[in-house]
Amino acid sequence: MYEQISHSLLNEILNDLKPEIRRQDLRHFYTRLGANFYAIHNLFQHLYGHRDDFKLQMLRLVETLARKYIKRSEQLEKLDIARENDHNWFLSQKWVGMALYSSGFAGDLQNLAARTAYLQELGVNFVHIMPILQCPTGKSDGGYAVSNFREIDDRMGTLEDLQVVADEFRKRDILLVLDVVLNHTSDEHEWARKAVTGDPKYQDYYYMFDNREIPDMFEQGMPEIFPQTAPGNFTWNETMQKWVMTIFHDFQWDLNYSNPAVFIEMLDVILFWINQGADVIRLDAVAFLWKKMGTSCQNEREAHLILQLMKDCCQVTAPGALFIAEAIVAPVEIIKYFGEDAVIAKECEIAYNATLMALLWDALATKNSKLLYQGLKSLPDKLERATWLNYVRCHDDIGLGFDDKDIREVGYEPYAHRQFLIDFYTGNYKGSLASGAPFMRNDKTGDARISGSLASLAGLEKAYAAGDEKAIASAIDKILLLNSIIFSFGGIPLLYYGDEIATFNDYGYLDEITKSSDSRWIHRPQINWERAELRKKPGTIENIVFSALKKLIAIRKETTAFADFNNRHLIDAGNQHLFAFVRFDHNRPSERVLVICNFGSEPQYLDLQTLSHSGFSIFGQLTDLYSGKRPTKFRDQLVLQPFHFYWLSEY
Ligand code: GLC
Repeated sequence: MYEQISHSLLNEILNDLKPEIRRQDLRHFYTRLGANFYAIHNLFQHLYGHRDDFKLQMLRLVETLARKYIKRSEQLEKLDIARENDHNWFLSQKWVGMALYSSGFAGDLQNLAARTAYLQELGVNFVHIMPILQCPTGKSDGGYAVSNFREIDDRMGTLEDLQVVADEFRKRDILLVLDVVLNHTSDEHEWARKAVTGDPKYQDYYYMFDNREIPDMFEQGMPEIFPQTAPGNFTWNETMQKWVMTIFHDFQWDLNYSNPAVFIEMLDVILFWINQGADVIRLDAVAFLWKKMGTSCQNEREAHLILQLMKDCCQVTAPGALFIAEAIVAPVEIIKYFGEDAVIAKECEIAYNATLMALLWDALATKNSKLLYQGLKSLPDKLERATWLNYVRCHDDIGLGFDDKDIREVGYEPYAHRQFLIDFYTGNYKGSLASGAPFMRNDKTGDARISGSLASLAGLEKAYAAGDEKAIASAIDKILLLNSIIFSFGGIPLLYYGDEIATFNDYGYLDEITKSSDSRWIHRPQINWERAELRKKPGTIENIVFSALKKLIAIRKETTAFADFNNRHLIDAGNQHLFAFVRFDHNRPSERVLVICNFGSEPQYLDLQTLSHSGFSIFGQLTDLYSGKRPTKFRDQLVLQPFHFYWLSEY
């Protein structure tokens, strides 16, 4: 019955499409629309069916999809078809990512295009260029307060420059990843400006209230994201005499997705960038898309429906494109952004593995893998056609968002344990060489997050300043240890620019008034290309780190067991300093790699017999894929140096 209604509505809509659209060759479009329309209609109805203008909005939605389909280039359409026919293409071990600010990495887009060879030299082929769109100076939140979703910031270049980058990437088989900041706009965006002049159409694009009554009720359940710099979740606008919902900074106005016009506008933006050549779109802050009073306004069911609807719509116009969910939320919530109750991913194909990231830093500080093991054990399997983005550092802070239950399970008290980690990484713990900075200390809750570059957090900056060769070598080992996990764990590893040459914290932000209160700028570096040249000079830190990562990347790409098909067994190594798991080729399960990491500061032994208790027996001789050598053994035990790892294969 519902299917019939949906079918006749589709016919009605197709008849109502403007003649200039109908005149085009829409064969593929019609086939895909037919296949996805039931789901699209169902979701759109669920979200907006109560509105008088529902049918009109539905027509607008389909028109948007058709217009963007018509604009899709022949080359990109071919790619869509190829990817539809090889729909697990992104689960391959061949992808290795890097996130970068084009300004910090190369200055601007033109220079970025010229630096592509550097990325290729390292082996990176999935490049997230962080926001490059127009943003007000000073009130930009690092590019995440967009004032025009279709124009590139003048300082970064032009659409043509981006086209050159996209072409350059395509030639070299590098995927282009771009952001769409879905949850909010800058207060200088045209929609916000029109809202300020009193235009009701645009006031309805945001959440606005005449007095504190509703904001107060909302705030009872909403945590503060930037408590130090932007306390509260609403901002008073003097001109409008209204409170505007601003969950992040006061200049970032939350979009109102209960208005279908907002949904359609933002879908149009996503498709616009996909048509510019983006292979993957990073959807920013997706947990916040739906606001419901009495809740934390995160991870609401409707936020998931919006993402499902976006995915289904994208399947019609540009099925080759993927979504990344940036949802830095509790471990059990993150996984839902792949899609719920679906056999294959129906929301975002890729999600940030913030859980693994935070757990890795925990293991490094505690020198044991208790919580890392426990936290990962508690994580449900992901959907089949979905993959993690595994990272050690990114442009944001490190939030200690592990589950309290897991922390208790391994014998720590959650509050005290988090305080220890914050102290450890921000230089307040005796014996720790980490030089991070606290981010957003919340005096009400005692909570804080951590900023700092990989090298500085791993202790390299202090070791280098002290000229302590042993500590330098140990910090480098730690950097490689963490990376050895993200390259082998299953998912797309995502490096952060500068970390490949062990870039230290940049304290320059403290002198800039618009940045000094946001410690994340400490790890958003300007690449020093003279230092980067040192990667070619044997024995330098840059050379050691760059070549080790390059080697890890090359081996990963050759190792089919590292592709991501839920083909991993965690292993209880029977020694809390060690962290171990087995990866196996999903087509040839006997081809396996045993990954073992020592988080301890002393050499550790692994009794190979213990492995058979965990259901893993070793056949044949073991070889470390990384060194190409047999692993060190003492009697019948494997030996690992402090902060060392093995990628062991049986031959
Ligand atoms: C995302 C971005 C972060 C930004 C926030 C608000 O979490 O990664 O940098 O501050 O969204 O847009």
